[in-house]
Amino acid sequence: MTQKVWGGRFRKETDTLTNRFNASISFDSRLYAQDIEGSMAHCRMLAKQGIISVEDESAILEALAKILRELDRGEIEFNDDYEDIHSLVEKTLIERVGALGEKLHTGRSRNDQVALDVRMYVRDVIRRVVELIKKTQVAIVDLAEKNIDLIMPGYTHLQRAQPVLVAHHMLAYYEMLKRDLQRFEEALKRTNVLPLGSAALAGSTFNLDRVMVAETLGFDGITANSMDAVSDRDFILDFLYASSVLMMHLSRLCEELVIWSSQEFAFITISDSFCTGSSIMPQKKNPDLPELIRGKTGRVYGHLMSLLTTMKGLPLAYNKDMQEDKEALFDAADTVEICLEVISRLLPEITFNEENLRAATEKGFMAATDLADYLVRKGITFREAHEIVGKMVLFAIDQKKELHNLSLEEMRRFAKKIDKDVEPWLDPFKTVNRRNVLGGTGPEMVKQCLKKAREELAS
Ligand code: ARG
Repeated sequence: MTQKVWGGRFRKETDTLTNRFNASISFDSRLYAQDIEGSMAHCRMLAKQGIISVEDESAILEALAKILRELDRGEIEFNDDYEDIHSLVEKTLIERVGALGEKLHTGRSRNDQVALDVRMYVRDVIRRVVELIKKTQVAIVDLAEKNIDLIMPGYTHLQRAQPVLVAHHMLAYYEMLKRDLQRFEEALKRTNVLPLGSAALAGSTFNLDRVMVAETLGFDGITANSMDAVSDRDFILDFLYASSVLMMHLSRLCEELVIWSSQEFAFITISDSFCTGSSIMPQKKNPDLPELIRGKTGRVYGHLMSLLTTMKGLPLAYNKDMQEDKEALFDAADTVEICLEVISRLLPEITFNEENLRAATEKGFMAATDLADYLVRKGITFREAHEIVGKMVLFAIDQKKELHNLSLEEMRRFAKKIDKDVEPWLDPFKTVNRRNVLGGTGPEMVKQCLKKAREELAS
């Protein structure tokens, strides 16, 4: 490693171990496009402020554009001669245009440069993630709409509780993803603030036009404190937190897909193209993709915890510890993007098995709450009604019957007020129709929510 940007003050050669341990080029090479775009904006501003000449500006810009094209095509090697991506770009520039390239770093430090590059990177990732979340929401709404007439058991404690529309269950995930979108959009607001111009930590002696740089690079604002600007990684933490919550949601959805596709439930079938098999058991068809999404959630949580821990003891301003932000960020970004891509492609490949859903809904006394509500309408207090229906359920269990199999006579032993009009209240398939309260599983409500979701996705 020979290409130092800080050699002057040193008498001895850097130890090879120092180079190996200190370098970040093996992973921050990913920031090359942001690094060059930021350098170009800085260069334009230096010229406009008369800090460098217009001739130097065009030579630098032309060379940077060429370096960018070559990097895009993989023609420049990210070799270990350079400590990081910032040194690689600068040294390559100087190789190409000579001494005038040495002017580019005027009024700039790698400390504000790296903060800029990472903000631009996070900004790009968030924009992609937002699109992928919307794509997943569309897949959810499609699936809900396609199965709008299907009823399934709703669960608490993974015990059958009350019937719900399949569409209502799916739209619960639409809501989670809607909050995820908001979290990423909030994170984007705090990310899209320009740190360049803060230099090493204290600002610059040059008359830098930060407003111009912010406008050139599409930032919505400018950092107010140079020391904060070079040592702030909150925007990465915001991204990692939003990513963690998103992954938690995807993991819960995937857990349900795994359970539902088991033979014990058999609520859904996932198409062959999105499942895998076993090397020894010929009959197997496994839901590896949802399992992997569930599994990858852990590494995203880990990256959030690791960066929080890295940052917690750092004195102002920049510290090299902060170089550790990148691998966490990159891996989390890759994980979130691929998981969203997979889930958005997987959801359309799911078929609900109507017969099994029907059979599961019939059993488990899921109309019990409605029966209690019926008794309340007959003038019994809810607490007493609850007690009565509890006893009826116990009786039905002993008789190996469901509530709707009990005769009127049998039921009247528990409450005289039960009459012929009880019949519809015993039918688990009719319970959803009674839940047209705002936010409930009633078909009217669910159709409204579907419509609203469509409108939100279109806007
Ligand atoms: N590779 C460093 C990082 O990722 C860039 C900034 C280095 N600045 C410095 N003064 N050593 O954080």
